[in-house]
Amino acid sequence: MNKKTVSDLTSLRGRTAFVTCDFNISLKNGKAVNNTRIVKALPTINYLLSRGCRVVLASHLGRPQGVDPQYSLKPVAAALTSLIKKPVRLINNFWDKSALREIDENRSGITLLENIRFFPGERENDQDFSRHLSQMADFFVNDAFGASHRVYASTVGITNYLPSVAGLLLDLEIRMLSKALNNPEKPFVIFIGGAKTPEKISVIEKLLDKADTIALGGAIANTFLAAWGFGLGQSMVDYEMVEMARVVFWKATRIHSALVLPVDVMIQANGGKALPRVSDYDKVPNGSAIYDIGPATVNIYCKLLKGAGTVIWNGPMGFYENKHYKKGTDSILKEITRARAFSIVGGGDTLSCLDKKDYFDKISHVSTGGSAMLEFMKEGTLPGIEVLLDK
Ligand code: 3PG
Repeated sequence: MNKKTVSDLTSLRGRTAFVTCDFNISLKNGKAVNNTRIVKALPTINYLLSRGCRVVLASHLGRPQGVDPQYSLKPVAAALTSLIKKPVRLINNFWDKSALREIDENRSGITLLENIRFFPGERENDQDFSRHLSQMADFFVNDAFGASHRVYASTVGITNYLPSVAGLLLDLEIRMLSKALNNPEKPFVIFIGGAKTPEKISVIEKLLDKADTIALGGAIANTFLAAWGFGLGQSMVDYEMVEMARVVFWKATRIHSALVLPVDVMIQANGGKALPRVSDYDKVPNGSAIYDIGPATVNIYCKLLKGAGTVIWNGPMGFYENKHYKKGTDSILKEITRARAFSIVGGGDTLSCLDKKDYFDKISHVSTGGSAMLEFMKEGTLPGIEVLLDK
């Protein structure tokens, strides 16, 4: 994609950049649990600081309805301070004109605005709000790949008032995903898991034309099994999407594309009190629910990975938060790190499974996008990318 990036800008010294990031991270007891998204934003921040720029950072955290302390970016400010090794000043009152003075007077040159979604103008893409944000800086940098599918003030509105370019992370995400989608080394295998079936099903339909195989796990696989007419007991199924799943099957058959479903699953009966056991996909008892792919499916999926030239994976294979049901997700992850394929792993939940550093190093690209990654896979671009300056 031919969009200008921060590296195309000259004469940065003494200027101020408004940088939108996706610091929407998981918190536990008020602390960052997985700071991948923060770490991945550092190259852009450090690039700008090293060239004598001040940075004003903006991000959302969660989906607060108005000001809500549990969604404060305080833990993000703390994590950033320790990673950049310079004080990061968090400002709450940035709607106030005094914020402009605060930014100017901040000696460390790094200001973080409190959760941008505390203000309704953000989601409404309000032009006054966007203009106010733009007054804090000389140019705008979008480095929030994970939020670039949102048409909000800090991703789209602000570009009406400032010269706007991509950050280094956004640029990397675009290059890596475009490489996999537009020029994949074959066979091209895509794994889709997790829930959010309505969002993912249209991505699957679109990608049937590009991928050699699409293999499913998680709740989305249940919806496809239900479309075949099997009773799935108490399993999570999106019944509103069953008809659409049939359409996708029909398309896969018509174009001879491989849409692969689990052949066995891990189930649990008695409202979660019984021990997990393996079941065939078509023999899930009434009182039981599917929580993971089974061992035969793990074998088939790992074989697909061994032979793949390109792999994209978004969404866990099961209820990975529970130790009894994380084997499917763990096995696929491990096999991806061993595969020779060009590999991309992404999605909020998938990132939470990536707790081992050596896994990171063996994956070609770990995407910071969840829904944004899926929309990019479907459309080849995002609203927050389209509005940036062309090269
Ligand atoms: C994400 O976690 O996918 C991004 O931060 C976007 O969050 P949102 O779905 O609340 O806009």
